[in-house]
Amino acid sequence: MKNQLGGEITIGGIRLQSNVLMAPLAGYTCFPFRLMVERLGAGSAYTEMVSADGLKYNNQATTKLLYTDDREKLKCVQLLGSIPTVFEKAAKSELLAPFQIIDINMGCPVPQVVKAGEGVALMEDMSKASKIIEACKRSGKVVSVKCRIGRNREKIVIEEFARMCESSGADMITVHGRTRDMMYEGEPLYEYIKAAKDAVKIPVFANGGIDSKDKAECAMQQTGADGVMLARFGFERPLLFAELTNRPTTETKLSLVMNQLALATECFDELSVLIYIKKLSSYFMKKLPGTKRYKQELYKAGSVAQVRGVLGKIFGEA
Ligand SMILES: Cc1cc2nc3c(=O)[nH]c(=O)nc-3n(C[C@H](O)[C@H](O)[C@H](O)COP(=O)(O)O)c2cc1C
Repeated sequence: MKNQLGGEITIGGIRLQSNVLMAPLAGYTCFPFRLMVERLGAGSAYTEMVSADGLKYNNQATTKLLYTDDREKLKCVQLLGSIPTVFEKAAKSELLAPFQIIDINMGCPVPQVVKAGEGVALMEDMSKASKIIEACKRSGKVVSVKCRIGRNREKIVIEEFARMCESSGADMITVHGRTRDMMYEGEPLYEYIKAAKDAVKIPVFANGGIDSKDKAECAMQQTGADGVMLARFGFERPLLFAELTNRPTTETKLSLVMNQLALATECFDELSVLIYIKKLSSYFMKKLPGTKRYKQELYKAGSVAQVRGVLGKIFGEA
């Protein structure tokens, strides 16, 4: 049966409110953002990648990345690393106790990550990738994998990789339809996401370049995937979640950004609040006519009160 965009889906026994997911985005998918998209209909939203090994330091940075509370109904964390025993320890740790789903990063193409044998490097070391999935599964949690389609067009390994994920116990796979060499540019190659979907029985999600309802429907249709995962365009336009999941909303960019400001102020120190809100506002301002003149004012704002004033001008008028 054809999967419906926006419908509910079960992953490893956990019911998600929709099959439109929010990707992990380093530097972006903090607790306030995840809460916002969950409320707008996202089926799940992941923390940005967190070093599995780095958890042992339990420092301020980790605390901030892992911040969550009861308002976030489904808690999903993404881990980065290369050593199965380290993953097992992390997955079973107290720090990750609140999280129901653990995603394993097997798609990051950043050179220093790949050099360390992490991220997309694991697609070329399937026996290690398999051990990592098994290690995470021993925590008893639901485990997903996020990967690409291969190193380059000559080395597409996604079909075999998807089978390995399934036989190692993964509950779901998200396939970013680009190769490692494509980084974040170029049209995603949906035919290879289809190949992954056809190769396994566990749910497969399509990721890459989805910036509208038309694109999401096209991705579902061309890949046969069980759902889609938004990334950059989900950050730029969170209202897409409401649209793709057919949830009527009266929210506007102004109400969203003001709510995010209040929420971030509750959870983070002022500097972190300013960094996050400026980043979010810049994305919200993309393609919004007449907002350019406020950019300098926004970047110069040095306190939450000042930022609040500028946001009113930018989005109040928009
Ligand atoms: C700034 C940035 C940060 C990212 N951080 C992560 C991350 O922490 N973990 C991950 O698996 N992918 C990460 N990605 C990849 C995205 O989740 C996604 O797979 C990719 O952007 C393709 O989707 P898109 O074309 O819809 O943006 C990141 C991408 C960008 C641009």
